[in-house]
Amino acid sequence: MPRKLTPGELIIATHNDGKLHEITALLGPYGVTPVSAGQLGLSEPAEIGTTFAENALIKARAAVAATGRVALADDSGLGVAALDGAPGVYTADWAEKRSFEGGPGRDWYMAMGKVEGKLAELGADVDRSARFFSTLALVWPDGHHGLFEGSVSGSLVWPPRGQKGFGYDPVFMIDGDTRTFAEMDPAQKQKIDHRADAFAKLVAAVF
Ligand code: IMP
Repeated sequence: MPRKLTPGELIIATHNDGKLHEITALLGPYGVTPVSAGQLGLSEPAEIGTTFAENALIKARAAVAATGRVALADDSGLGVAALDGAPGVYTADWAEKRSFEGGPGRDWYMAMGKVEGKLAELGADVDRSARFFSTLALVWPDGHHGLFEGSVSGSLVWPPRGQKGFGYDPVFMIDGDTRTFAEMDPAQKQKIDHRADAFAKLVAAVF
């Protein structure tokens, strides 16, 4: 029997505003008030795991250790079929600017360009299918945890299109639609994306 989550404040182990907005919208109806690690000034742990689940647990456990309260983390990324699933767990790292690129900091247009460059090397008729993944880790102060995995399938467009959303949204077109995630109203994207898929499983288990 999965452990239930009681209404009230929940620590969200993220410094990413895009994720925080989505998670706030997804949890609102359940009486949970998200407070992010970023808002609390918590430091970001090194994401040294090799799977989304490992990294989600690292982030949630760090937030529990710092606050003594239940914490939720999302680890997510983009897997491109023709690149054997890359960038995968390294999706955020591909956006990291090196010093000669004006770093430190993250540049999502540079990251999308890297993906496109690698696809271009494989030829004009390369398979452009891709999948967004999200793994949620919910960790309690006594160490108990739950893991919930979601994903959505789509394809990559080039050049990037749309001004909404965050990260790789301007190049991802979910199957069955002609708009990129960045061309969709965020409220609509949040209902159909990989995080919504993972949240549906979390909600079914803990509320
Ligand atoms: P991490 O989960 O913090 O390791 O970061 C994963 C990265 O994947 C994010 O920083 C985003 O750039 C990207 N990503 C995850 N979810 C989405 C999404 O819904 N849209 C666009 N990019 C995303």
